[in-house]
Amino acid sequence: MTELMWNGKYKDGKKVGPVRIELPFQTVETINETAQERQLTLDRLFSGQETEWRNRLIWGDKKYVLSSLLPEFAGKVNLIYIDPPFATGADFSFTMALPDSDESFTKAPSMIETKAYRDTWGKGLDSYLQWFYETVELLRDLLAEDGSIYIHLDYHVSHYAKAVLDEVFGPDDFRSEIAWKRTSSHNDPNKPGNIHDTLYFYTASSNWTWNPQYQPLDQVYLEKVYVYSDARGRYRLGDLTAPGISKGVTGKEWRGVNPTLFGRHWRRPPEELEQILIEGGIQLKSDGKPSINGWKQYLDKSKGMPIQSIWQDLPNVTGISSEKLAYATQKPESLLGRVIKASSNEGDLVPDCFCGSGTTAAVAEKLGRKWIACDLGRFAIHITRKRLLSIDNVKPFIVQNLGKYERQAWQTSEFYDPTQQASAQLRYRNFILDLYHATPIDGYTWIYGIKAGRLVHVGSVDAPVTLGEVRAIVNEFWRVRGKDVGEHSNGIDILGWDFAFDLNETAKQMAAEANIRLAFRKIPREVLEKKAVEQGDILFYELAALDVEVKPGKKLISVELKNFFVSPDDVPQDVRSAIKHWSQWIDYWAVDWDYREDTFHNQWQTYRTRKEPKILLRAFHEYEEPGTYAIVIKVIDILGNDTTKAVTVEIPSVEYSSSNS
Ligand SMILES: C[S@@+](CC[C@H](N)C(=O)[O-])C[C@H]1O[C@@H](n2cnc3c(N)ncnc32)[C@H](O)[C@@H]1O
Repeated sequence: MTELMWNGKYKDGKKVGPVRIELPFQTVETINETAQERQLTLDRLFSGQETEWRNRLIWGDKKYVLSSLLPEFAGKVNLIYIDPPFATGADFSFTMALPDSDESFTKAPSMIETKAYRDTWGKGLDSYLQWFYETVELLRDLLAEDGSIYIHLDYHVSHYAKAVLDEVFGPDDFRSEIAWKRTSSHNDPNKPGNIHDTLYFYTASSNWTWNPQYQPLDQVYLEKVYVYSDARGRYRLGDLTAPGISKGVTGKEWRGVNPTLFGRHWRRPPEELEQILIEGGIQLKSDGKPSINGWKQYLDKSKGMPIQSIWQDLPNVTGISSEKLAYATQKPESLLGRVIKASSNEGDLVPDCFCGSGTTAAVAEKLGRKWIACDLGRFAIHITRKRLLSIDNVKPFIVQNLGKYERQAWQTSEFYDPTQQASAQLRYRNFILDLYHATPIDGYTWIYGIKAGRLVHVGSVDAPVTLGEVRAIVNEFWRVRGKDVGEHSNGIDILGWDFAFDLNETAKQMAAEANIRLAFRKIPREVLEKKAVEQGDILFYELAALDVEVKPGKKLISVELKNFFVSPDDVPQDVRSAIKHWSQWIDYWAVDWDYREDTFHNQWQTYRTRKEPKILLRAFHEYEEPGTYAIVIKVIDILGNDTTKAVTVEIPSVEYSSSNS
């Protein structure tokens, strides 16, 4: 077989395959699950039974997500559609209209997104092809025996990618190259305008799911063939017979005509022909016998033409389309609808590891398929979550990431070295301190570094920074200060991957009472990526702060957002100055009215859409039972970052029963 070669394809005579690391997924949120469903899931989990299927929205790099899906889904996926990034950085930037304002802004790709982009295009086509090859290798292993895959590309790489796909799936399992007309014209000076994308369709074997789909009849064909009309409408004339003799009923004489005499048979059994005749669908000759070529086929009964390899009838999403979201590379639902209907059945599983604005997941949901949607961009995950939420009766789904497991794997591989005296923990901390431009200091349990007079703590990779941890840091700070008055300021920076929900305000208040100025800063995910680190410039953003007011009533309580402070580091100056009210930062917020120290269960939410750009600032909830409840509020800002806060409420039994009486 002819083979496409690129730099980096082989090492020591062997093909370089994908990383096959299997990491557990962390569920960070469940959406739209009722209290009963939640209880059922918990009961099943505790009794070791299988839990009910949940569609999954996963934030992470496909390189880890796909390999981590394999243990559960190898050979079980019915249909894959992917629309991988190609050639432009547009995939990672997004334009956002500023709420309650005429301003909009374009968010540049984050470091991690730039890094992924560099991974694919950094060394030009060679690195793209290696990246693409590794992706489709993993996808092939996920496909079921009768599964199908569609790969959406354009002229930049499609011809090279076809050679890679032939290598991975085998040329015999190539089914079709589809040209999708995405726009009617494109101004490409001195050459034909480029107006189509390419979808390659492969199957896992020679036995695949196929449900015929139809496209509108071609205008030229229509004019040429549907040339007759009567009171019922426009029609064409078709042949009542087909070639070949039949010994069955379709070979018998009907109304004085015997098809066997001219080597043919009826296309329908006699009873059906009779029915068509009664309905006026067959022309009769002057002798009263049916005309062989007289089958009247009316245009309004036509399903159209079985789909061909050129799809011109599915317009792209434009600025005025009702489905338009703030995502540059969004594809139309009609395109995904055709792919999903043709190549899967209800209940089938349809993953997309480059989900972008979530088109595949949204269409799969509407068509009753199961879905798994993954993307590296946090904004893509957020936009997909909102898109799914706005589907009527959307089934419960979960949001997952590889969070601490990915970080643990990283810590072990980067810092565990039996030949080094310093422990992996210490080397990890010093690495983070270095990125934060802090100097390590020895001799303390909780304080690890100093920067511009402020002491620095580094949180561990596998647990959120808790209030207890902050207390210990503050106590140690006082011991240090007590010994060494005047040498240090009263500032402490606490760097962490995750933070306990209510930490920002509770701990700050506690620290303020102790005359300490605390700042919580997030260790960004970019830190895990060698190349991003090499490029430098890693920013540790300060945690956003949320102020809420809870008003407990008898059974009914209300939660109102009172203020939201977002660290402005990530936002252009003009946008910052266009923000006149803190609520403009908020794109979405949700409440778990009964948080049980497991996953955030989204039980109520409000969010901005193009049609409905306002959000509510107050939520109400009625408790069925008295008791103590932890309420968790999750806010997602217009950049896709989330901030959570927990509050506790008492629903007293006295009030409860009196309100009941
Ligand atoms: C062309 S867009 C997909 C658009 C999508 N079909 C839609 O209709 O909105 C490609 C997506 O791939 C994501 N992406 C790029 N590299 C990735 C990676 N390594 N892992 C996961 N997602 C990635 C980008 O964030 C982007 O959202």
